[in-house]
Amino acid sequence: MTNSGVTNNQKTTSNSYQKKEWASAYKNVENELANVELKLSKGKVPKELFGTLYRNGPGQLERGGKWVHHPFDGDGMITAISFNNSKVIFSNKFVRTKAWKEEQEAGEFIYRGVFGTQKKGGAIKNAFDLRLKNIANTNVIKLGDELLALWEAASPYSLDPENLETKGLSNLRGILRDGEAFSAHPRFDPGHHNSPRMVTFGVNTGPKSTIRLMEFATQGKKGGTLISDRKDTFNGFAFLHDFAITPNWSIFLQNAIDFNPIPFIFGFRGAAQCLKSKPNELSKFWLIPRDSGRFSGEQPRIFDAPIGFVFHHINAWELGKKIFVESIYYDDFPTINPNEDFREINFNSIPEGRLKRCEINLDEGIVKVEELSKQCCEFGMVNPDRQGLHAKYAWMATATQEEGNGPLQMIKKLDLTNGTKCFWNSGQHCFVNEPTMIPNPNTSDEDDGWVFVIIWDGQREVNELAILKAKDLELEAKLELPIKIPYGLHGNWVRS
Ligand code: CO
Repeated sequence: MTNSGVTNNQKTTSNSYQKKEWASAYKNVENELANVELKLSKGKVPKELFGTLYRNGPGQLERGGKWVHHPFDGDGMITAISFNNSKVIFSNKFVRTKAWKEEQEAGEFIYRGVFGTQKKGGAIKNAFDLRLKNIANTNVIKLGDELLALWEAASPYSLDPENLETKGLSNLRGILRDGEAFSAHPRFDPGHHNSPRMVTFGVNTGPKSTIRLMEFATQGKKGGTLISDRKDTFNGFAFLHDFAITPNWSIFLQNAIDFNPIPFIFGFRGAAQCLKSKPNELSKFWLIPRDSGRFSGEQPRIFDAPIGFVFHHINAWELGKKIFVESIYYDDFPTINPNEDFREINFNSIPEGRLKRCEINLDEGIVKVEELSKQCCEFGMVNPDRQGLHAKYAWMATATQEEGNGPLQMIKKLDLTNGTKCFWNSGQHCFVNEPTMIPNPNTSDEDDGWVFVIIWDGQREVNELAILKAKDLELEAKLELPIKIPYGLHGNWVRS
């Protein structure tokens, strides 16, 4: 039975997927295309859509017969899908990072990857090579005139927003020191302090961790200008992939995790494979006041957070003295050990992400936690106009079964206030990427708009862009992509 493209408003239909079809998405991107018009395979493209969906993700997974150990080590490849009067134009290009160019020339990996990819020659050849390979593969954002490919441990690469050509490493007009870390998870404040901003951070970690919190103007001639900048130092090692904002706070979750660099230094493991969770130890919330908020200039506040590991937050908001933070929790830090092949992973052996809401009481210093759903999920977002404010709805990618781990095959819309949900199942042979919710510019209804999602059809071996109605996840259009793209990481819609 196939159940391709089914919207189910009540409950999950479990897919019997084949791991081979899931894994077949992992291959090198072989072409770079410019301005190819996409053909509709189903439905109609909404005529209200004007703008570009930019996405980033690993595009180079193998060189000279050697595979990356983890797809997160693959070099960044940007796709741009532009909408203009129902016409849809596709382009894609690798980010010309220093390492990508050198490895293209060499025809093999000459750098180690953070997630365990090794150079040829075993530990002896890898030991003491502690260079960071900036692969610019995690997110792509527009800031002022610049299109930036982001990777959290180093500075961004600047790209031409029209033709995706790499201009080079960017220090954002002198704001960043050479090579300074710049998060891949900026948050776009829709106007908590009058005009919209981009809030982001860089972290320098060790026995103590220093967070640099930066706020940028995003509109008009001032777009890209730094308007606020502060640094705070905390005790302990921090692995901070994402954060959340409210009008008054930037919220970081310091996972209870330790870094033992010895196996990395001696060439046995990648740096991220040396992260070990501290079982039964609480994480911490680090709340840093935003400069335009009520607590501007005050010291950060620190609270105990629940046990578990978080990569991604969905949203945060304030209600009086309370702050609510919705995040995807794993029981433990998911890792792929040195002797495992990521294409063969056993979903049942790794923890799944589950959506939880923490309530922080600023006065009483307590944190309460509530599980919003048991269903395995990742890549969640609220309507971007509700970022940092109370949002009723979230959209996310989920596995098809109601509990336990599995590949992401569905898009789910969840009412965060009462748990009502609806699904779009991409089909038993299909697997989804991060969904992007795009509000309808003509209304202010929170769930009026579209959800874009790139799917991999493992039976036909093609990628398609599905456009769903945000309200009920009904399929509105499908367009086939002219190239094959491995599962990606993050992206953004840029209105034109
Ligand atoms: Co991320």
